[in-house]
Amino acid sequence: MAVYSLWTSYIDKGEKHVRGKFVRFHHVTFWVGNAKQVKESAYYYTFNCQQNMGVLNIFRHTLNKMNRLKMGEHLMKHGDGVKDIGFQVEDCDFLIKTAKERGAVIVREPWEERDGQGWVKYAVVQTYGDTTHTLIEYLSPYKGLFLPGYKEPLFRDPLLATLPPAGLNFIDHLVGNQPDDHMVPISDWYQKCSLFHWFWSIDDKQIHTQYSSLRSIKMPINKPEYVDYNGGPGVQHIALNTSDIIQAVVNLRARGMEFLSAPNMYYNALRQNLKTAKIKVKEDLDRLQELKILLDFDDKGYLLQIFTKPVQDRPTLFLEAIQHNNHSGLGAGNFKSLFEAIEKDQEARGNLTVLTPKGQSKAFN
Ligand SMILES: [Fe+2]
Repeated sequence: MAVYSLWTSYIDKGEKHVRGKFVRFHHVTFWVGNAKQVKESAYYYTFNCQQNMGVLNIFRHTLNKMNRLKMGEHLMKHGDGVKDIGFQVEDCDFLIKTAKERGAVIVREPWEERDGQGWVKYAVVQTYGDTTHTLIEYLSPYKGLFLPGYKEPLFRDPLLATLPPAGLNFIDHLVGNQPDDHMVPISDWYQKCSLFHWFWSIDDKQIHTQYSSLRSIKMPINKPEYVDYNGGPGVQHIALNTSDIIQAVVNLRARGMEFLSAPNMYYNALRQNLKTAKIKVKEDLDRLQELKILLDFDDKGYLLQIFTKPVQDRPTLFLEAIQHNNHSGLGAGNFKSLFEAIEKDQEARGNLTVLTPKGQSKAFN
């Protein structure tokens, strides 16, 4: 698994942009089932996210017939999930020209849209599986709700106003899951075509659980669900940043969000490790344990994180809440715990299989 930084200031030896820049995550587009479900999914996500920071805000877009057919095929293959990750960029034309010269598939060449509120340039580039990236460049300040042509939903669920705030502020990172042997080509693609910088990576030693690992890591002893259920690679999780994870988790639980549970032995080991740590954790460990929040640390700081159960019908996409305390990592020290928890959840659903030495899958028991 690899994660790429959007920020050019990161001390890394990646190629620098001559022109153009990826500024930030702009939005994530979900493709989900029928119109009713679209509405319900929309409210499900609004239930779980704060509404004022551009995180998973819900806007409906009317589709023409051809796009409906395309979406239908996509849903048959992948189920509900993330179709597109949008980035705000500078110099969209240059980024697309560079990506194209380096072999990227351009789904849609740059085009412009405007309404009474502002003027925006877009382009769409293909990435892993059927996932795309939309590049968004503001050609003027945009004063509207979201982007040209989008309008407020006609109906807002009255229950929304009765729920505690989710306390999630912005997209921290996204992780794409890849089939066997696809991680390196995809990593190369991001560096070559998008000029992202290598930010962080983990190897199989860090996430080896007894039966499982990411499919993207070469350890053919397991049969994880994601790639099978998603019909190929796709976005596995979206991490949302919070400045108060304890309150966020309390509120998200009150809103009905289900989280994966770390075992008590995880907290026993954590207490032990923290005894010799150079950092001091401000939060109460008992409270973190009670809420099943995970902690990863180094000599300078720590992060707190928690993962939801899959949020779609298929066990594919899930969400993460993450709080950084002088620690810019993504929780590599927790990967083993995460995959153990995913396996426990997978097993509870009767869906944990292992690969035999001959490469056939059999039920785990
Ligand atoms: Fe994550």
